[in-house]
Amino acid sequence: MPEITIPKGAVNACYLPYLQNEKRVQIYFGGAASGKSVFLATRVALDTLTGRNTLVVRFVARTLRGSCWNEILKAISRMGLAALFTVSKAEYAITSRFNGAQILFAGLDDVEKIKSITPSKGALTDIWVEEATEAGYEDIKQLEKRLRGPSPHPKRLTLSFNPVHKAHWIYKTYFGLWDEGKTYAETAGMSILKTTYRDNRFLTQDDRLALENEKDPYFRAVYTLGNWGVPGGAIFTAWRGETLGRELYDGGKFLYGLDFGFAGDPCAAVKVCCDRARRRVVVLDELYARGMTNARLAEALKAFAGGGVVTCDSAEPKSIREMQSLGIRAVPARKGPDSVLHGIQWLQGHEIIADTRCVHLKEELAAYRWRRDREGNSLPEPEGRNDHLLDALRYALETESQDCAAYAVRRPNIGEWLNIV
Ligand SMILES: Nc1ncnc2c1ncn2[C@@H]1O[C@H](COP(=O)(O)OP(=O)(O)OP(=O)(O)O)[C@@H](O)[C@H]1O
Ligand SMILES: [Mg+2]
Repeated sequence: MPEITIPKGAVNACYLPYLQNEKRVQIYFGGAASGKSVFLATRVALDTLTGRNTLVVRFVARTLRGSCWNEILKAISRMGLAALFTVSKAEYAITSRFNGAQILFAGLDDVEKIKSITPSKGALTDIWVEEATEAGYEDIKQLEKRLRGPSPHPKRLTLSFNPVHKAHWIYKTYFGLWDEGKTYAETAGMSILKTTYRDNRFLTQDDRLALENEKDPYFRAVYTLGNWGVPGGAIFTAWRGETLGRELYDGGKFLYGLDFGFAGDPCAAVKVCCDRARRRVVVLDELYARGMTNARLAEALKAFAGGGVVTCDSAEPKSIREMQSLGIRAVPARKGPDSVLHGIQWLQGHEIIADTRCVHLKEELAAYRWRRDREGNSLPEPEGRNDHLLDALRYALETESQDCAAYAVRRPNIGEWLNIV
């Protein structure tokens, strides 16, 4: 193999010691924009040249192209190594021309693919789970089983994510040894590195300020400081009700969500518009009624959603079928492990503006709190039952929230940064 030399300055200094980290389980977690994804993408590319086969995983397959796939290709071209790889979009694989080792991609939503995926040469040596808090405990256990077969390289499972809350299974499983004051911990088989935006010297001043000026305490703890979140009282603080001006939704796409209910619980629907660039969710209207039969609900939805797709609570497949037969374009929400928390977290990263007429939604937004245990600690679970429109809101925005990273900061445009000597 030809010798490839990369200047130290090309990788953020905090990650340099981990380019050749061989611990079995490796955790890279911390605040937003701390350079985790770029570092791991760079490392995966370099590892492939040493003969390692990596499977890159996220919870939802379709989110991979816009994230890890792109980051790895960018890392390869920054390092000027494009000539050493074959990139196949059709096979969704990046192969080293030089030794046949591969980088493969799969979503946890594609169980069959995950079970059958094998590199064309040798064993799978590495799995990198990006945004690993989206995945469930069982998912990771199943994935670990894929790391088998003879190889000269020690097998590794690498997880990267923003810390969400201390009751998450990742905290419970891996963070027994963790000390909040530290940025690194290790055992014989595991390493944990915590980083924040301060460790990323490639960020622009604007990006830094956006994180430093974060006001929401939970958001600040998790995304600015990279700490495991301890959710405070109210879940949503960045919301308001107002008479909506057209400029807030003009040209936007309307999304609809529905939570079924009948006697005790109301059936609840929302009409929303999401402005990703401004990180804003605008709720234009609500439907909130008790004692409504499915036939009447379908009539009401025709007027409310005007033929648009309505994402519904998937716990009621029969009602969804009935809505469909009554002419509503009803689809089940996909949900998934931790989907409530993921949806809440994603919404917390947005300003929510509800039209004045959404009276019930405003009540729910104001009353929504984290449940507490006997000692008064917040649990990562909303309390109470007054969350029908909020559920509908999460369903309506499911595609949006599963598509984006929880916290999008403007990324600086960087040019060539690696010279191959
Ligand atoms: N080694 C690097 N060289 C050049 N630019 C970098 C490097 N590392 C990070 N960056 C820049 O910093 C931005 C943020 O880095 P990255 O996406 O890796 O952060 P992250 O820790 O994964 O953030 P998040 O928690 O939001 O996913 C990148 O989009 C990129 O522009
Ligand atoms: Mg990232």
